[in-house]
Amino acid sequence: MKIAFVGKGGSGKTTLSSLFIRHLAAEGAPVVAVDADINQHLGAALGLDEAEAAALPAMGEHLRLIKDHLRGSNPRIASADTMIKTTPPGEGSRLLRVQEDNPVYDACARPVRLDGGTVRLMVTGPFTDADLGVACYHSKTGAVELCLNHLVDGPGEYVVVDMTAGSDSFASGMFTRFDMTFLVAEPTRKGVSVYRQYKEYARDFGVALRVVGNKVQGPDDLDFLRAEVGDDLLVTVGHSDWVRAMEKGRPPRFAALEESNRLALRTLRDAADATYERRDWERYTRQMVHFHLKNAESWGNERTGADLAAQVDPGFVLGESVTAGA
Ligand SMILES: Nc1ncnc2c1ncn2[C@@H]1O[C@H](COP(=O)(O)OP(=O)(O)OP(=O)(O)O)[C@@H](O)[C@H]1O
Ligand SMILES: [Mg+2]
Repeated sequence: MKIAFVGKGGSGKTTLSSLFIRHLAAEGAPVVAVDADINQHLGAALGLDEAEAAALPAMGEHLRLIKDHLRGSNPRIASADTMIKTTPPGEGSRLLRVQEDNPVYDACARPVRLDGGTVRLMVTGPFTDADLGVACYHSKTGAVELCLNHLVDGPGEYVVVDMTAGSDSFASGMFTRFDMTFLVAEPTRKGVSVYRQYKEYARDFGVALRVVGNKVQGPDDLDFLRAEVGDDLLVTVGHSDWVRAMEKGRPPRFAALEESNRLALRTLRDAADATYERRDWERYTRQMVHFHLKNAESWGNERTGADLAAQVDPGFVLGESVTAGA
């Protein structure tokens, strides 16, 4: 299943993503971790040192390879040049699976060993000031969106994405690509205002959104979050000495994580697992087509000089029964 951590800058998206990934790995679950945030810190939060994190390949720099692999022999996609971030798979496209080796993982994923298991880590690559608001920025998160739209994930398999709650994810449809979106919110007005904005976008698309309160210090914080987000509040996490020790470069064994935080991670997993039973591949496919047509019309057709609506394979539904083409 596909899980996103979103929220305001500094709310704890990376910290909670990394703890969740460690929790899954410790329980033996297969995990692909993706850093799609403007601030690329997931590698460090998973214990990589500066040199290791800097050496991670950037998905944004392998966009051509990703497109060429995914389009496979799909006759509706003439070349990688006409493939935009929302181009949906169809007959002949190659699909990705969580547990396999493929050229996309070879180029863009690196193994990270954690207590109890190894996960695959993919990163979009650092964003520069020049990226923000222009095409390169889109192409970086676009690489993630393409992969998600071509991914066939089963129950018990996890793709965990650390990302911003920025407007880019709303324009592209990225925010609809997850079985569960955890919105990390500190008990502050700014923290919950990001929640309200996200909820607004999410409502029309049936996005499963739950709030994870972070840095919650006492009953007053809890009351505030309850009052502001109501039943959307799933669980809260307090200050973690384990996290602080990790940030000092002295990571304790994961088993030493505070009991209350371990329980919170279990709650996150249970909530995510429960959504898989409601997974609707047809709706998932329909939404990717919806956003593709929207992007084609607003900029894609003009940029590529092609009619990108023709890329939609009307009979295609992504799902576990679809076998990889080409
Ligand atoms: N529960 C926690 N206990 C202790 N420290 C925490 C906790 N949550 C977050 N922090 C600390 O707060 C800081 C911000 O957290 P983090 O980097 O995870 O936020 P973010 O939302 O990913 O930020 P950005 O928007 O910059 O990517 C970090 O130094 C992190 O270690
Ligand atoms: Mg972060």
